[in-house]
Amino acid sequence: MAAGKGTRLKSKHPKVLHEIGGKPILAHVIATAQKVVPAEGIFVIVGHEAERVREAVARTGVNFIVQTEQRGTGHALMVAREALSGYDQVIVLSGDAPLITADTIEKLIDFHTSQKAAMTLLSADLDNPYGYGRVIRKGVPGRAGRRPEVRAIVEEKSATAQQKKIHEINSGFYVFAVPALYEHIDRLSTANPHGEYYLTDMAGVLRRAGKKVVATKTSDAGEILGSNTRAEMMMLDARLRLVKCRELLDAGVTIFYPHTCVIDSDVEVGADTVIEPFVQLLGHTKIGADCRIRSYSVIGNSVVGDGVTVRPGTIMEDSRIGAGAVLGPYSHLRPGSEVGEGAHVGNFVETKKIKLGKGSKANHLSYLGDAEIGEGVNIGAGTITCNYDGVNKHKTVIEDGVFIGSDSTLVAPVRIGRGAYVGAASCITEDVPADALALGRARQSVKEGWARAKREAQKEKRH
Ligand code: UD1
Ligand code: CA
Repeated sequence: MAAGKGTRLKSKHPKVLHEIGGKPILAHVIATAQKVVPAEGIFVIVGHEAERVREAVARTGVNFIVQTEQRGTGHALMVAREALSGYDQVIVLSGDAPLITADTIEKLIDFHTSQKAAMTLLSADLDNPYGYGRVIRKGVPGRAGRRPEVRAIVEEKSATAQQKKIHEINSGFYVFAVPALYEHIDRLSTANPHGEYYLTDMAGVLRRAGKKVVATKTSDAGEILGSNTRAEMMMLDARLRLVKCRELLDAGVTIFYPHTCVIDSDVEVGADTVIEPFVQLLGHTKIGADCRIRSYSVIGNSVVGDGVTVRPGTIMEDSRIGAGAVLGPYSHLRPGSEVGEGAHVGNFVETKKIKLGKGSKANHLSYLGDAEIGEGVNIGAGTITCNYDGVNKHKTVIEDGVFIGSDSTLVAPVRIGRGAYVGAASCITEDVPADALALGRARQSVKEGWARAKREAQKEKRH
């Protein structure tokens, strides 16, 4: 179920597209569902901003059902009637509760099957049950936990003072026998404080129809937490990222002060890599083994080879870094930067759409954009590729073994031939042949005694 608006977030974006752990909440739920059933058997109920939601998760191959008007969780299942007609059993997941695991879903299904129930719900004991539906068990109060059967679920707003004291809550995850669900779903009503069809009311409806309704408690209440408010989302995000850090630690990665790091769910890191405090590894980033990622680096959707050193404050997006390279401090690698094995990109160097060959170095204060730079090249401090003429972008080619002197400007399109030298402070506007020396600067002139004469003239004026 992912059709709701998420009013409590006060957001212009649909709730299920808010991100935790670096991807939409709904994407987490779908990924988990796919561990239990194939995509063809997954139906996402969309409604609010249906197109956006659909687009965000379309590549998973799941099906979509449109709930044009969002009249409650019960109504969401009414809309799914036709799509589910060929199935015996349906597992209902909440699009806004992303921490659920495949293991828990499987246990829920097994319990449902073993109980031969019409409806099985996953419950949990929460210290603070506020806001959740409460599970009213059949039988003797106080011994309720021992009996699986459920009398009803009562929503927060409809609960009596006595019912509000119940700590066993409805997680919003269910298994239903499809025939029983649709035989009785029309008995749901909107006579409640929200004027909605509550799926939770199916517990009472089915029980009254003589069907078996049971609940099984999860051992990890953290898994069922929903994200109805920003505060809840923040908690889920922190939880998910700590789980991620623990996985990486188990896989041989050292992370100092994990709670200061922001590591997205899909990131991969090799063994013996050390991640310092306040590092962000985002999107589909892959970091090799034996790397050191120093503080304040932000790496998004990039592939970093083995043994790479990323010094503090390096920003990288959509880039590929060869083994043993050294980056930073304060390098900015923009999309399409390919840094070769053992190459160096240093302080305040910005790159975009470049290839920097094996062992080449650009250590200080440069802009390198739209450039193909060979192996063993030295780019002097302050070198700029002038790639933009105000209308189009042009390419700079620097062949193997070239030495570019400091403070050079290379006006693209331009090619510097293999092994050539460019003198410091040159403005290069024409191609330089291999092994040549190019100088593109005014010749120095010296006026002997000029400064002394000026000082003396000033002294005379003052007298
Ligand atoms: C629901 C349960 C509550 C339970 C809690 C657990 C109901 C009435 N209440 O409350 O007992 O404790 O989950 O997290 O079900 N949705 C639709 N169509 C709609 C309405 C909602 O698809 O018309 C979707 C939402 O996008 C969301 C999910 O259903 O992903 C749950 O809806 P939400 O409004 O968050 O229900 P809760 O108030 O959390
Ligand atoms: Ca919810």
